Amino acid sequence: MIIKPKVRSFLCVTAHPKGCAKEVENQISYVKSKGIAMGPKRVLVIGSSTGYGLSTRIVSAFGCGAETLGVMFEREATNGKTASPGWYNTAAFENAAIKEGLKAKTINGDAFSNEIKAQVIEEIKAGMEQVDLVIYSLASPRRKDPLSGNVHKATLKPVGEDFKSITLDTDRKKIQEVHISPATDEDILNTQKVMGGEDWSLWMNQLKDAGVLAEGVRTIAYSYIGPDVTWPIYRNGTIGKAKEHLESTSSEINTLLKDLNGDSFIAVNKAVVTQASSAIPVVPLYVSLLFKIMKADGSHEGCIEQMDRLFRSVLNAKGGVPLDEEGRIRVDDWEMRSDIQNAVAELWPKVSSENLFEISDFVGYQEEFMHLFGFQIEGVDYDEDVNEVVSIPSI
Ligand SMILES: NC(=O)c1ccc[n+]([C@@H]2O[C@H](COP(=O)([O-])OP(=O)(O)OC[C@H]3O[C@@H](n4cnc5c(N)ncnc54)[C@H](O)[C@@H]3O)[C@@H](O)[C@H]2O)c1
Repeated sequence: MIIKPKVRSFLCVTAHPKGCAKEVENQISYVKSKGIAMGPKRVLVIGSSTGYGLSTRIVSAFGCGAETLGVMFEREATNGKTASPGWYNTAAFENAAIKEGLKAKTINGDAFSNEIKAQVIEEIKAGMEQVDLVIYSLASPRRKDPLSGNVHKATLKPVGEDFKSITLDTDRKKIQEVHISPATDEDILNTQKVMGGEDWSLWMNQLKDAGVLAEGVRTIAYSYIGPDVTWPIYRNGTIGKAKEHLESTSSEINTLLKDLNGDSFIAVNKAVVTQASSAIPVVPLYVSLLFKIMKADGSHEGCIEQMDRLFRSVLNAKGGVPLDEEGRIRVDDWEMRSDIQNAVAELWPKVSSENLFEISDFVGYQEEFMHLFGFQIEGVDYDEDVNEVVSIPSI
């Protein structure tokens, strides 16, 4: 079929198999251009098919030569309906890994469930024996608690007070006001249930009990802090409360891993365009302004550059992994540099629908958004009739 983008608000309901494959190929080429990195050899990535998880899997495999096991929740193509981008990305990743003789296996299902955890453990026992690194990179709007069976829905709301701000309507390409009422206690708890540390802790406990964590194992979960303008809705909002919970869970996991000489880390990553971040109010506007400043500064990074830097410069740092005063890895250091943040803060009150394309990099934002779904990628013929049904070798 001939596949064209169908954008609905912050989602594109179609994806292009060749475009997604090319995007994965580009990420692999980036990592290979940097040469071989010292690193883990058996890596489990929970949330491996898009965004930060996919890039981490690519760096592990093509930078460190690691065998990788990925967990994702993606949709296969059916009767003229395309698969989700993460499905096509994973097919491309596995095909490229096979070509290089790198072992790769993917499990598609709900990572929050006991069944998928058990399946992963069986898979590690059968193939890898143990893992040296566990990446926790899930972003999900809901979670079914495996114990109670209750389904919890995450919300993006301020805590304690109303949130009023300018935001960007990415469909209409207009700056407008946004007003969100504060979260209830239930919203806060539900969001913590989905995006907090409970599931990460369940994973680590079950992996440890099954004896599939290697001596010296490391685990890393991803977090975000960001600038003042997003704090009421992000860091001080429901999602931020969940991230605080995730961050405090890291110390519990550290204790759990002590007898294995293992370590648990939180890596605070920079704001990038992903399916998860494009759904957060204010973030697309902030990211468009940030990209303008960071591109001009020469410090702009996407997921792959961030994850490549995390592996090469941070995890391999001489003298140990550098941490901030709260014990977190900060790969958002360039984003949070005061000159970068001051420049964004200066633009923030000036941005309007009229000057959006001039003072922000909304064009770059839109391009990266389309890339997530395999569109607008150089070298891909979008008038070509392509087969939407693509299989993933290990599934
Ligand atoms: N995007 C950003 O700007 C940004 C910045 C800093 C930190 N982070 C953090 O990075 C992490 C990953 O976010 P992202 O932006 O890369 O998200 P993403 O939407 O691109 O990726 C989410 C991944 O989780 C998987 N997933 C979702 N629900 C699942 C389920 N129930 N079972 C199995 N797999 C499931 C998806 O298949 C996908 O692989 C999150 O913790 C996020 O907060 C993101």
